Amino acid sequence: VQQSLTVCVTGAAGQIAYSFIPLLLSGQVFGQVKINLRLLDIPKMETALKGVVMEIEDCAYPLIGDIQTGSNPKELFKNCDLIVFLGGFPRLPGMERKDLLQKNANIFKEQGEALQEVGKEDVKCVVVANPANTNCLILSRYATKIPRQNFTCLTRLDQNRAYAQVALTLNKPLNSLKNIIIWGNHSTTQYPSIEHATVEGQSFVLPDQGQFIERIQKRGAEVLNARGNSSVFSAANAVKDHIKDWYNGREDTLLSLGVLSNGEYGVQSGLCFSYPIRCLGAFKYEIVGNLQLSDFSKQKLKVTEEELIQEQGLAESI
Ligand code: NAI
Repeated sequence: VQQSLTVCVTGAAGQIAYSFIPLLLSGQVFGQVKINLRLLDIPKMETALKGVVMEIEDCAYPLIGDIQTGSNPKELFKNCDLIVFLGGFPRLPGMERKDLLQKNANIFKEQGEALQEVGKEDVKCVVVANPANTNCLILSRYATKIPRQNFTCLTRLDQNRAYAQVALTLNKPLNSLKNIIIWGNHSTTQYPSIEHATVEGQSFVLPDQGQFIERIQKRGAEVLNARGNSSVFSAANAVKDHIKDWYNGREDTLLSLGVLSNGEYGVQSGLCFSYPIRCLGAFKYEIVGNLQLSDFSKQKLKVTEEELIQEQGLAESI
């Protein structure tokens, strides 16, 4: 059992960080492990970061170790065991997808270079900032000394959304469901699949599968329209679930994380793709590569893979 961990959160003055930091420091991610915290944001958020630190102090968390804040990844990534990448460039009105991809690719290139220079070789990375899969791929490209299995991106929010919708539709408890999988990109081409899922140990069908798939693909926009703001505490909760299960292991169900593909299911090697994953504990996992896929599923995987190939091309042209 680890006595202390050093965790960096980027985008630490942002919204998801504001919901995630309390989960981390109250022991809901790693249990009773002391956390040394590194908070990274851009220079103009320096004062806001100070405010976050004041609130952390005012919580008097028994688990808090030392805290450092700043805007230089080369300082803050040093000695980190885990980095949670929440910081990114937001989509502004009128901005093209290509511009958004390239702005973020630049950020993740710089942070990848910093990791390569000062990072621990066994540091674990969780990329949340969008486009999450492609940002994760870029990060890994520039931090080649770190094993590729250490790079993941968040698709757990999509998976949690899918579980919740299936439970509501079937009117069954959440813990009676297993093995709902999110395949591919964290975007509207993702494929939320019930092909290998069970309820109370039995496979099942939904009254309208097409509607379910579209609902999950567009759930982010649905929340945004209703709230006038993007998903925040559900995202922070998913980051908690992702890290907790990756760290502790989880034998009872397949999980979804974006990881770097080795060509499983015919997906282009090197893409950051959300797969069915078995978490084995101590931050080890395996991609479950032997599920039988229907033609319908194969087609859906192709669509989301093609989008990721296109994103990779745009991001590489920085
Ligand atoms: P936010 O806009 O409130 O916070 C982002 C923070 O990142 C800001 O404080 C900003 O100053 C900072 N930042 C920008 N460039 C930076 C850099 N180069 N280095 C360090 N920090 C930098 O956004 P919010 O709501 O906290 O969301 C964070 C990200 O997570 C967004 O990209 C959002 O699209 C994404 N997201 C991903 C989800 C997923 O399931 N993968 C779900 C929900 C959000």
